[in-house]
Amino acid sequence: MTEIARGLEGIYVTETKLCRIDGQKGELVYSGYDIYELAEHSNFEEVCFLLWNGRLPTNEEYSHLVEQLRRERPISPLNNRLLHEMVGFVRPMRALEIAVTAIGALDRNSSDMSPDALQDQARRLTARMSTVIAAYHRIREGNEIVAPRDDLGHAANFLWMLRGSEPSELEARVMDVALILHAEHEMNASTFGAIVTASTQSDMYSAIATAIGTLKGPLHGGANDAVYKTLEAIGTEDKIPAYVDDLLARGERMMGIGHRIYKTTDPRAIILERLGEELAKVSPDAHYYHLSQMLRDYLAQKLEGKPLYPNVDFFSASVYKMLGIPNDLYTPIFAMSRIAGWTAHLMEQYANNRLVRPNALYEGAENRPYVPMSKRD
Ligand SMILES: CC(C)(COP(=O)(O)OP(=O)(O)OC[C@H]1O[C@@H](n2cnc3c(N)ncnc32)[C@H](O)[C@@H]1OP(=O)(O)O)[C@@H](O)C(=O)NCCC(=O)NCCS
Repeated sequence: MTEIARGLEGIYVTETKLCRIDGQKGELVYSGYDIYELAEHSNFEEVCFLLWNGRLPTNEEYSHLVEQLRRERPISPLNNRLLHEMVGFVRPMRALEIAVTAIGALDRNSSDMSPDALQDQARRLTARMSTVIAAYHRIREGNEIVAPRDDLGHAANFLWMLRGSEPSELEARVMDVALILHAEHEMNASTFGAIVTASTQSDMYSAIATAIGTLKGPLHGGANDAVYKTLEAIGTEDKIPAYVDDLLARGERMMGIGHRIYKTTDPRAIILERLGEELAKVSPDAHYYHLSQMLRDYLAQKLEGKPLYPNVDFFSASVYKMLGIPNDLYTPIFAMSRIAGWTAHLMEQYANNRLVRPNALYEGAENRPYVPMSKRD
């Protein structure tokens, strides 16, 4: 009997030094560093260095990376024109996918898979994707694009370019930690998609375009936007029981709940909830955060005994809302962070490549005689 691994659950497709998840204990570790420690002490740029080099940077290496990322922030005239053409009818994740393809089109060394070239490509993509997302939003709102600022870190600069106002220290820190939390997650669907593309020796830009298309789906990165829409649909605390009961009675899924690997609360959800607490003290949109907590508590009663707990998307929706970010940008922001992990996995893949080519068990008809079209009923 051929065993079918539908969804590839429990199948190991490669080794990695990047990330370990213990879904029973709720542990997430990037290259040996616990996510709670990174969220407490590190920042997104440092986590990028860690993922791309397997160790934390020295002071000098860190400053050098920060400078290199800053230099790569401005978008090309081609992407500027494309974004102006696309707004209004191309949704943000598709726009990001197209923009990444355009970044690749302008890189004369896009097919260079040497370690140095891959590091260049990873930095370029990481720096530019945040500018693309912010610029797309500014253009669609009829506002001027805001140029990146050299004196701001990656997270603060993103909020600056998006909103046109400098974020508070707390907002910048929350954004930074959200980027750390989403940066890497072992062999998730979008990372696997990227690896399949790279395994044909296609270039990093094409692999990242694949990853963005894969992340878009509501069972993966699209869940954060879906959580926001759920909160909007519920509206007020008193509507939670009826909404949840109806949804579960219809056999539908609550977005932001459940995970293929975590069978306890996702540690990223715990960290985001804590950050949300701080933001909620000062945000005019704190209602979304409190509603999320009440929804979580009600779901805990309804789903008792089932391994279904909040995942990273559950609290990211209300946290992003409190940062003043429109909900259709939540998934692009996930991509803007996960680019760190995607590119790191691609570096591992190119260094030890094998074409990914599984099998499908044929169950169709056999030995059918070909009938000319004129003789078919
Ligand atoms: C993430 C997800 C796809 C993982 O699913 P999976 O590992 O394939 O789990 P399964 O689809 O086998 O589900 C197992 C059981 O839990 C139920 N379940 C899973 N997620 C659920 C959810 N969010 N709400 C309600 N029930 C859920 C399934 O209906 C199934 O029930 P059954 O055994 O009675 O049929 C799933 O939990 C989900 O769809 N979550 C919502 C989307 C989401 O938040 N995605 C972001 C992930 S970070």
